[in-house]
Amino acid sequence: MSWSARQYSMFEQQRTRPVRDLVAAIPANRVKTAIDLGCGPGNSTEVLAERYPDASMTGLDSSENMLAEARQRLPSLQFALADIDTWRPEHAFDVILANASLQWVPDHAELYPRLISFLEPGGTLAVQTPDNLQEPAHRLARDIAASGPWAGKIASVKHPDRHPAAWYFNLLQPHCTEVDVWRTTYHHPLSGGHAAIVEWFKGSALRPYLQRLDEVEQKDFLDAYLHAVSQAYQALSDGSVLLPFPRLFVVATR
Ligand SMILES: C[S@@+](CC[C@H](N)C(=O)[O-])C[C@H]1O[C@@H](n2cnc3c(N)ncnc32)[C@H](O)[C@@H]1O
Repeated sequence: MSWSARQYSMFEQQRTRPVRDLVAAIPANRVKTAIDLGCGPGNSTEVLAERYPDASMTGLDSSENMLAEARQRLPSLQFALADIDTWRPEHAFDVILANASLQWVPDHAELYPRLISFLEPGGTLAVQTPDNLQEPAHRLARDIAASGPWAGKIASVKHPDRHPAAWYFNLLQPHCTEVDVWRTTYHHPLSGGHAAIVEWFKGSALRPYLQRLDEVEQKDFLDAYLHAVSQAYQALSDGSVLLPFPRLFVVATR
């Protein structure tokens, strides 16, 4: 089960709100070169391009499906197929943006300083990562993975490590002139109720589980997950649910 632009974009408005907050916090007003790492369907690239319309801008992603959508959306920009983990640019950038992508890449202790080294002096690395591994949506997925008949296949699935705000601050401070770190919990109203929570995470956090299961197991897993999230998240009187979603922001200037 590879990345699906269609599934991911079902909640595009809610998913794009954090990147607006992130891009607004980048200190530079003039930017010549910028790149969006893990650009997905181009929603984050579009926000960056709106702020810096004169910059030479590239979107990078490891999913062909996402890139096809991004190219269609922003035909005047460049897009490249690459893995953030092995990406080594030929020139430095004024802005490196990574919105909701670095949580899929391991070893942040090595990765973040490496990305800083790809910046021009005075350039900025702007990162947002979900900080929701302890939220019911993730906890329940882990519990179901470990307790169903599929446990042998998926109980050991692990998302790459994430760290608290102070950890990123301490990691980056020696390499930067300024580090700005904050955490925000968004509360997304989802009109589709609990089924919408399932659809939301099918497009992101559930992928590592689902891609290891066959079709029948996927259905059973998703049924169990829907039942569990229905107990954990209270429905509102109109049938919608409010999905609390904590996110961590790092804006680090070299
Ligand atoms: C949750 S989406 C974020 C999309 C977009 N940046 C946004 O703000 O909504 C994560 C994206 O990161 C990409 N991605 C995940 N791991 C990657 C890697 N190692 N290298 C490049 N792209 C990666 C996925 O293909 C996906 O398009």
